Amino acid sequence: MLVTSKELLLDAQKNGYAVGAFNTNNLEITQAIIRAAEAKRAPVLVQISAGALKYAGAEFLPMIVAKAAQLASVPVAIHLDHGPSFESVLQCLRVGFTSIMRDASKLPYEQNVAEVRKVVEVCHALGIPVEAEIGKIGGAEEHVVVSDREATMSDPDECARFVEDAGFDFLAVAIGNAHGFYKGEPQLDFARLEKIRSKVSVPLVLHGASGIPDAQITMAVERGICKINIDTEIRNAFIRTIQKLVAENPDQIDPRKIFGPGIEAMQAIVEQKIEIFKSAGRA
Ligand code: 13P
Repeated sequence: MLVTSKELLLDAQKNGYAVGAFNTNNLEITQAIIRAAEAKRAPVLVQISAGALKYAGAEFLPMIVAKAAQLASVPVAIHLDHGPSFESVLQCLRVGFTSIMRDASKLPYEQNVAEVRKVVEVCHALGIPVEAEIGKIGGAEEHVVVSDREATMSDPDECARFVEDAGFDFLAVAIGNAHGFYKGEPQLDFARLEKIRSKVSVPLVLHGASGIPDAQITMAVERGICKINIDTEIRNAFIRTIQKLVAENPDQIDPRKIFGPGIEAMQAIVEQKIEIFKSAGRA
């Protein structure tokens, strides 16, 4: 069933688990996410970036995800990932998103607040929750590219002020996490996360979770992370499976024979993540 992310994340916060937020670009990824959520009886967020909307159609992809959510036997929210502008948010609200991120984290503090407040005013009037980010998460996710030098960790006092000033629902933190594959083993700054948690009461979000060791994910969830974003590991599973099958079966021209196993490989990744996030059996 289609729900907003607010009810999902508040339950996660109350009960000490995290809801997986998985990025989609197309039908097959969407199927893998929903099938995994149903198999694990887990609530889930299917998230779409501006780049995915551009690739698959600003109305068409959300329509596929909304239909999948309506038909699903578990709660599903449709989330805008890293919303780049006020206009992009309005377009998503028009086609039925039930959760919005406005990412103005590259702007100076006062402008970040102003951009997020504008979105909060509209979204809250429609009963839609809003995620915002402070600090700069490193790495590359679609149009969001932050070099190692530019990346900055979230400051706990500024986090508290940001929630107060901008009035949004979930806070994305930069605590050593980065989008894309990590170069070495990432080391999340748990002391910083604990400080942020002690000063902020809204659910916290961890971006860039592909490649973070399971033990660190568990520690993050224990310290108040309620939404965890995964994109890269799903893409990797899909494309590696397809590459292998195409190489092994050069005469195969039925896409279903190639994409079908690709869906299964992605589903397996999403199911593993759901277990680690402790959201299995929560639906
Ligand atoms: P990964 O690139 O680590 O999968 O992160 C995805 C993400 O945070 C989307 O916002």
